[in-house]
Amino acid sequence: MSLPSQRVELPAGERDRNPTDASAPIPAHVAIIMDGNGRWAAQRGLPRAEGHRRGVAAVRRAVRAATEMGVRYLTVYGFSTENWRRPPDEVADLFGLLKRFIRHDLAELHDANVRVRVIGDRAGLSSDLVSLLDEAQDLTRRNTGLTLVVAFNYGGRQEIARAARALARLVRAGQLDPEAIDAEMLGAALDTRDIPDPDLVIRTSGEMRVSNFLPWQTAYSEFVFLPDFWPDFDERTFRGAVDQFRGRDRRFGGRGAQAV
Ligand code: IPE
Ligand code: IPE
Ligand code: MG
Repeated sequence: MSLPSQRVELPAGERDRNPTDASAPIPAHVAIIMDGNGRWAAQRGLPRAEGHRRGVAAVRRAVRAATEMGVRYLTVYGFSTENWRRPPDEVADLFGLLKRFIRHDLAELHDANVRVRVIGDRAGLSSDLVSLLDEAQDLTRRNTGLTLVVAFNYGGRQEIARAARALARLVRAGQLDPEAIDAEMLGAALDTRDIPDPDLVIRTSGEMRVSNFLPWQTAYSEFVFLPDFWPDFDERTFRGAVDQFRGRDRRFGGRGAQAV
């Protein structure tokens, strides 16, 4: 039996290894920084493109596992605004994989009642890709299962700047009093306006940074950093990260569940 009072005696670093309380909630929203495709390939003497290709298979596993665990929202970071710094052939590979993933998997995702959402900057994407993303969102709009949020050409700072511009335009048009702008209003102007904040952020590959991923929305998220490279991510890894999350005491600035 894992009594709360036993847990509180554990040093902070040990808390993650504490047996999970069966009543602890499953995270409603898991956001994943899928990192390490290139290193996975390099370890095997394969081209980076092969790492990215195998990364798509890991996305499919993550979608299935999220659905099975009862996660409601799964966000995957597919391409950052900074990833344009990579060589053009790698950028083309990543764009090609997104297109192929949607063309190949859309019907299956729809059958599985998955709702697809895309966040990020549409400017800078070709019109055929934008149409494909719109098609995926439109087809699955009314689905009631997992919401799969694909962050593509996404940068958190750019998203916040876009939201600020949208509010500034309303102020200029005389439709908004600057004094009325609060955190809730700015949040409602982001790409994620109708998506709850992530409860859990997972990053693979051993890197411990955010890389411009959902900086606003992760203000109170729990982070789990895994050593595995993304192409090796599977249901077991996913469940392990969720178990770590379930052992955490989220306080949101208050005294927390274990306060006496
Ligand atoms: C993640 O793998 C995929 C993207 C960032 C698009 P990487 O391509 O970053 O792989 P590493 O970090 O170089 O190993
Ligand atoms: C973050 O990974 C972006 C995605 C997973 C799409 P990167 O590999 O681009 O991040 P850095 O450059 O190591 O911070
Ligand atoms: Mg990387």
